[in-house]
Amino acid sequence: MINAQAPGKLILCGEHAVVYEQPAIALPLRDIHAHVTIAEAPTANGIVFEAPDLERHWTLAQAPEDPLSELILRFLDSFAITHPPNITITIRSDIPIASGLGSGAAVATALVRALAQWYNHNLTPADISALVYASEQRFHGTPSGIDNTVIAYEQAIWFIRPHSHTRSPHMEPITIGAPLTLVIGDTGIRSATRLPVGEVRQRWQNDPARYTTLFAAIGTLVSTARAALAQGDHGQLGALLNQNHTLLQQLGVSSSQLDHLVAVAQHHGALGAKLSGAGWGGVMLALVTPDTHQQVSAALSTAGATRVLATTIAASTHRP
Ligand code: PMV
Repeated sequence: MINAQAPGKLILCGEHAVVYEQPAIALPLRDIHAHVTIAEAPTANGIVFEAPDLERHWTLAQAPEDPLSELILRFLDSFAITHPPNITITIRSDIPIASGLGSGAAVATALVRALAQWYNHNLTPADISALVYASEQRFHGTPSGIDNTVIAYEQAIWFIRPHSHTRSPHMEPITIGAPLTLVIGDTGIRSATRLPVGEVRQRWQNDPARYTTLFAAIGTLVSTARAALAQGDHGQLGALLNQNHTLLQQLGVSSSQLDHLVAVAQHHGALGAKLSGAGWGGVMLALVTPDTHQQVSAALSTAGATRVLATTIAASTHRP
């Protein structure tokens, strides 16, 4: 029996503008995971999928167009494996779906890791990320690649989408000068990534000057946030997160529920707060201190967050 897992992710700053080649910063969320097990099947049914959390059961032969079936076919093809094995693949995940926490990319990453183990192939994070990206691209249109990258590398990263889809993205692990605690509030509203991403594209096409300016302002803010993170200057970082939320509102991807949770966190002592991920639903994040952590978490629950998580990113040094 093979077991593999992959963490969730959180975009600290720079979402949406990252699709337009501006930098973004993303963090792995090690407290929640997607899990994939592979067991040899006694029957000759090829590959059987069991996803009890989603109440789904399917086979590769019956549903080859399913995104995870396609990912497996891509994996088998890239290793010139012509006969799918007789196995049962079980998928479980504690990452809420369609909420900005990288559930889809985490399931896909755990699946590729499990298959690599099954075939005794040693894949690098870059190999895994590339396979998952191809799958995300097929089903989500124009993904920047940030989700698959941060999840495959499991490090806090600075990310820039390449100009051409045939080139690799620019990715660097970043320095975290002082441990960082973020509280995450879930609006409980599920929103498919491609919808707000499509809306932003349409707005940009209708008014390129205005939206290019907004993307550039986010990019500048993300560069400043990287320096603040490296210096452990959480006061400055918090102010930048607040500014990033305002710019995301201007892009049209916030919602009344996200704005409400962000305002509640700000009023209860968070150093800064913003929506995280594609928006219109999903989660927001708040930067807290040990003194404000509990009160911000409690205030978010009272304000209607359906789930409140927290994550601490340890200090680490990476030279550019
Ligand atoms: O898939 P989500 O909701 O975690 O966020 C995607 C981030 C975007 O910048 C909005 C899109 C992308 O491909 O980077």
